[in-house]
Amino acid sequence: MSISKSIRPLPNGRTRGDHTVAWAALQQHFDKTGKHFDARDAFAADSTRFEKLSQQAPYVFADLSKNRLDATAQALLLDLARQSGVEAHRDAMFAGEKINNAENRAVMHWLLRKDDKSLKNSINSPVAGVFAALTAIENIANNIQENLALVHQTLTPLLAYAEQIRADAQITDIVNIGIGGSDLGPQMAVLALDSFATSGKRLHFVSNVDGHELAAVLKQLKAENTLFLIASKTFTTVETITNALSAKAWFEANYGDKSSLLTTNKGISRHFAALTTNVAAANAFGISTTFGFWDWVGGRYSLWSAIGLPIAIAIGAQGFKDMLAGANAMDEHFRTAPLESNLPVKLGLLDVWYRNFHGFTSRCVAPYHSALKRLPAYLQQLEMESNGKQVDANGQALSFSTSAVVWGEPGTNGQHAFFQMLHQGTDVVPVEFIAVKNARHSLPGHQQRLLANAVAQAQALMMGKADAGGHKNFLGNRPSTTLLLDDLTPASFGALIALYEHRVFVAGSVWGINSFDQWGVELGKVLAVDIEARMKSGDMVGLDGSTQGLLKKLSF
Ligand code: F6P
Repeated sequence: MSISKSIRPLPNGRTRGDHTVAWAALQQHFDKTGKHFDARDAFAADSTRFEKLSQQAPYVFADLSKNRLDATAQALLLDLARQSGVEAHRDAMFAGEKINNAENRAVMHWLLRKDDKSLKNSINSPVAGVFAALTAIENIANNIQENLALVHQTLTPLLAYAEQIRADAQITDIVNIGIGGSDLGPQMAVLALDSFATSGKRLHFVSNVDGHELAAVLKQLKAENTLFLIASKTFTTVETITNALSAKAWFEANYGDKSSLLTTNKGISRHFAALTTNVAAANAFGISTTFGFWDWVGGRYSLWSAIGLPIAIAIGAQGFKDMLAGANAMDEHFRTAPLESNLPVKLGLLDVWYRNFHGFTSRCVAPYHSALKRLPAYLQQLEMESNGKQVDANGQALSFSTSAVVWGEPGTNGQHAFFQMLHQGTDVVPVEFIAVKNARHSLPGHQQRLLANAVAQAQALMMGKADAGGHKNFLGNRPSTTLLLDDLTPASFGALIALYEHRVFVAGSVWGINSFDQWGVELGKVLAVDIEARMKSGDMVGLDGSTQGLLKKLSF
């Protein structure tokens, strides 16, 4: 459904959103009436609005009714998804096609969440959409089968190792050394599932090359009681290798039995394990206990792989499997539900509507559950590293905005900090409330008060309050979405995270970008190496004035 014939088609049956008829229709609708939409009027005019704009997906109930969405915008956004090929793109991902075209890789983190039997059934089933289609491309189907076999060949020993560590009374502390996706996902998950953590182990996460972080952890440890997990997809990331080398040196210095440092099942081999796609580099580093994964798992999508080992140690093998199953339930919803009742699709389209038509620059995520305190940080990588792009999948410049800034803090804390700006600031920031009905503590009164606050904030944002005095005036019509879980369990947590992954996919799909590369982080890495060398040599040739000035200030 391209407007211009000169536009180069995108791979995987996609069309860039701004090249569709629906995009132009949305712009027209926005200019005419969409920008004047007021949710209060919409509720007054339609007593069924809540029912119409809320839905149950696996483990997650979503209320979208407070958003700036009328029936026309909803219909046109679905047209936009269809015309930009979201379904074909989604099916290509689930078929194992190399949709990460810039890196020539498939995108199959969803495969990590499939149990092997269900995949075979899917492939054999004539009604199983994408897998039935695979019969036409046998090699891809075989490839998926082979990869799934590999997934389970790896998962079984990984979970056995997790159980072995859980049962090992000598190991009291686990230190995960990794950064980005090799830190944020497992760290966020271990915190989120703290109520299910039965191992009795202390888990530490070290990511920053800033030695203060590692030093603060090391001083709590005893070498004989510690397991270091070196988590790095590439095993080349400077921060992780620097921390791993320091941890190894500390271990060698502090391990009592120096004669057994290199003995099998003792020393390094017992106290270090690597989680990586680059097993050879881990071995060369001196680590013999390794758990692998594959290039088709993106770093920010890797908590379901060997990178999830800290989660499995914390909550056990069954808990980890439950988490995978919950995510798989959301995968199936995304893969099979019609677009109009497909929650990741609806949320991704809402993101596009707000970013490109309303011009909102950020989205606030407010989890009303203290265990989800690292969720905003995790989502920053998931969304902004995936969709913070300025070119389409063909490398052509975009003429519209992509990823919003995602930020947030748990409620009710945020209410006493930045919510002032959300209610009365000059910018409109859509808010996402995440609430969990049932508490896993028995302190009386807290849960109801917490939930009342979440609901009241969403209500206040929308309803506002007129006041002649001005200062107390709340304009209202500030959009929010509420995601409700009955309980925060491994399964519901898995479903929630998969929901976010697919929502990011949908927005990136409409924008016509490659959500699975991250070239934007490369330049800083290269320059850091150069600057460090110049710090040592004092060479300032070719540097800009500010960089020179700062280096002079920092010279040792
Ligand atoms: O910062 C870029 C990045 O490549 C992320 O995408 C990734 O999660 C992180 O670095 C860590 O990479 P690795 O797991 O290879 O050490």
